[in-house]
Amino acid sequence: MCGIVGILGTEAVAPQLLDALKRLEYRGYDSAGITTVNGGAFQRKRAEGKLRNLESALASGPLAGNAGIGHTRWATHGAPNVRNAHPHIAGRVAVVHNGIIENFQDLRNEILVAGGDLQSDTDTEVVAHLIDRKLSSGLSPKEAVAEVLPKLKGAFALALLFEGDEDLLIGARKGSPLAVGHGTGEMYLGSDAIALSPFTDRITYLEEGDWAVLTRSGVSIFDSQNKPVSRRESRSAVTAGLIDKGNYRHFMAKEIHEQPEVLGHTLSHYIDLGEKRIRIPAIEALDFKSLDRIVLSACGTAFYAGLVAKYWFEKYARLPVEIDIASEFRYRETPMSGRDCALFISQSGETADTLASLRYCKAQGAVIGAVVNVAESTIAREADVVFPTIAGPEIGVASTKAFTCQLTVLAALAVHAGLVRGHITVDEEAELVEALAAVPNFALSALKTEPAIEAMSQTLAKASNALYLGRGTNFPLALEGALKLKELSYIHAEGYAAGELKHGPIALIDETLPVFVIAPHDGIYEKTVSNMQEVAARGGRIVLLTDENGADKGSAAAETIILPAMHDLITPIVYALPVQLLAYHTAVFMGTDVDQPRNLAKSVTVE
Ligand code: M6R
Repeated sequence: MCGIVGILGTEAVAPQLLDALKRLEYRGYDSAGITTVNGGAFQRKRAEGKLRNLESALASGPLAGNAGIGHTRWATHGAPNVRNAHPHIAGRVAVVHNGIIENFQDLRNEILVAGGDLQSDTDTEVVAHLIDRKLSSGLSPKEAVAEVLPKLKGAFALALLFEGDEDLLIGARKGSPLAVGHGTGEMYLGSDAIALSPFTDRITYLEEGDWAVLTRSGVSIFDSQNKPVSRRESRSAVTAGLIDKGNYRHFMAKEIHEQPEVLGHTLSHYIDLGEKRIRIPAIEALDFKSLDRIVLSACGTAFYAGLVAKYWFEKYARLPVEIDIASEFRYRETPMSGRDCALFISQSGETADTLASLRYCKAQGAVIGAVVNVAESTIAREADVVFPTIAGPEIGVASTKAFTCQLTVLAALAVHAGLVRGHITVDEEAELVEALAAVPNFALSALKTEPAIEAMSQTLAKASNALYLGRGTNFPLALEGALKLKELSYIHAEGYAAGELKHGPIALIDETLPVFVIAPHDGIYEKTVSNMQEVAARGGRIVLLTDENGADKGSAAAETIILPAMHDLITPIVYALPVQLLAYHTAVFMGTDVDQPRNLAKSVTVE
């Protein structure tokens, strides 16, 4: 969603702000802008669409000034046009915002009644007006912000710049993330450490309700009660070098191809290969033996990783799992107890609904676990125990390597839970650890299917609809395949449990509908073969993703992608790669914006 950056620098900051906005592009946006303050006056450029438009505007009219704020906007209130692009200015105040001011309509009315002149349709502009009015009444910028913040309902990360003060930036955070960067004689604000990575690795994350007053000589942080607080400065591991496409055409391609390596890194964090044991750091905080239930919640692809984990926890650990998408869970008022573990899965660690669900469960007294990729994220910081995925920064909006790393962590947790709950033996644990250890090699084999999949994508690109089918742990992978295809190629796709076909979706089958069947040769393979026959009998065009043992029986398929045979535990992890490649190549063939598909944001920080 919206990306924020602010710089108090020692030279003209507009080029640095633009550079930082480029690193925030991955979050998804539809307009962008920069405001600097120079010689006591604001200078501003805004543009609709991609950053290249803002870059051209800056090339034809550069902005001077050593202090400034910048923004990539993902439209919520008001169309994505120049008028609604941030920064918004009222009098002596310029503001950029990530989040939603829920009471903006009341505040707009209040401003209009007081004779204010609103220039945009946004919720954000009211913040600049309210603060400017306080300045006009004689308050200092710091006093004005302290008075206005409590009036704002909803979620926000704000960066504020003041006309006439070139050594002042104020940031505030409630619900949406905001980080302070410490330089030498320079200070920064950013939505995340990635934005600030070339400038500094010294980062202080603001906590819920915090606001911060920055000058070139440092920062003062206040909590929601306006009491000065001290927040830890940490070294961010994110370096600008990690945010690079390398020789790949898209971040997504790079991230798909990184999987053998990052799956290896993630595994080495959770398994002891020599002893063939699962070893989970910090697991003492979570006693699987005493649990009655796991409650899982997440959004999008992370939710599908949780759906796979439900099969694993129930099968290997006999531990019931309740799972729900976070946007529903947060309002469902689920009863919980201290014998529940609530587990949240998130690449970004900032997804608003997942975070709200976490806070609900915390208030109910449940132990909170989090499987997260961004180690410094809010979800990671608020959980009792964190299970990191070691996927590295994921920049493509479509989640790929984070998904397979989430599955790997969840598989290790399920096997460990099975052992401590007495449902699997040490020998069985060793067999499952060996299966997991083989994942990076099988991932390499899966990548070898790419030429066949690329050829296949050209036919798929002509379809208007597609169906994905799977059973067991490969049913959630069917859902994930459909999501990947939809978000990247804009082809409508649905994922179904193969056994559910006869209960409705079979009516869709005709010769124009591609049907992707994900079916390793496991204990339920024959059942899926029957479902394939039902599709073939109605003229459906089947593409079968199976292994060398399943290929023979797949005669109903028009095309078959064959992977090596592998342990059942790991099929959803390895089979994810061809599924991702299919969506990727279809999107490339169709010419869509692969890394930043339309309307999507990487980190969904509003509900
Ligand atoms: O950062 P998170 O893992 O919490 O994000 C959850 C979803 O927004 C995310 O997985 C989304 O569905 C992706 N676009 C899927 O590719």
